[in-house]
Amino acid sequence: MKTLQNKKDSWNADLYDKKHSFVSEYGQDLVDLLAPKQGEKILDLGCGTGDLANELSNFGIDIVGIDNSENMITQARHKYPKIKFMVQNAVELDFHSEFDAVFSNATLHWVKPPIQALQCIYHSLKAGGRFVAEFGGKGNVQIITDEIIQQIEREGITFKKEKFPWFYPSIAEYATLMEEVGFRVTFAQHYDRPTQLDGDKGLKNWIAMFGNHLFDDVPEHRIKDIITNVENNLKDTLYKDGNWVADYKRLRVIGVKK
Ligand code: BEZ
Repeated sequence: MKTLQNKKDSWNADLYDKKHSFVSEYGQDLVDLLAPKQGEKILDLGCGTGDLANELSNFGIDIVGIDNSENMITQARHKYPKIKFMVQNAVELDFHSEFDAVFSNATLHWVKPPIQALQCIYHSLKAGGRFVAEFGGKGNVQIITDEIIQQIEREGITFKKEKFPWFYPSIAEYATLMEEVGFRVTFAQHYDRPTQLDGDKGLKNWIAMFGNHLFDDVPEHRIKDIITNVENNLKDTLYKDGNWVADYKRLRVIGVKK
């Protein structure tokens, strides 16, 4: 498939569709938790290349998909031209009491500050509307990221804490933020979800897709060796039967707008 790739946007929509389709495949369970009803208007926050938005539209849902990446939205529009997709930042949403539900799979760990995103989500919902989300929880991919950071520092490069791109809260932290903005938290779960990264290049591909910001302060010519060291050191722990298995830990929540 031919795609338009915006160079300033670090998201690679082709790599996402070809090697990381597990992101939306795992989202199926979250669709069950959302329990969409025909005729509802639902916002898919962080829709990526649109697969789950498309699935929701098949339920007879009036779906709007948003993502902060132009590359992802370009690909989503190309794949599903009948669905409304927009580039929007989760901390600057421009919706007011419009949606029966806000649905978000594998996105909110990227969004800072989280309280601002929650305020925007709250404002987007109608009274009684629900927020159903899953994203990385406390300890997510920690074996991988600890090893990457350790290898960067072994090269004599300081890893600045603020360069860590993700927010991985515990249930207590996130439920507190949800309550602060006004949600009634009706469900929260923190669980292990070992995630297979296909093939012997699986870890390398995952780092290229999701972890490139960790290397912001690393000179280009040293990145390859650091990744090789990471692979060598993690092989005993995370490589099984020809595939890498990433130590995902997920947080799932439902909040209702009071
Ligand atoms: C996650 O879905 O948990 C995740 C995805 C990419 C990078 C880090 C975490």
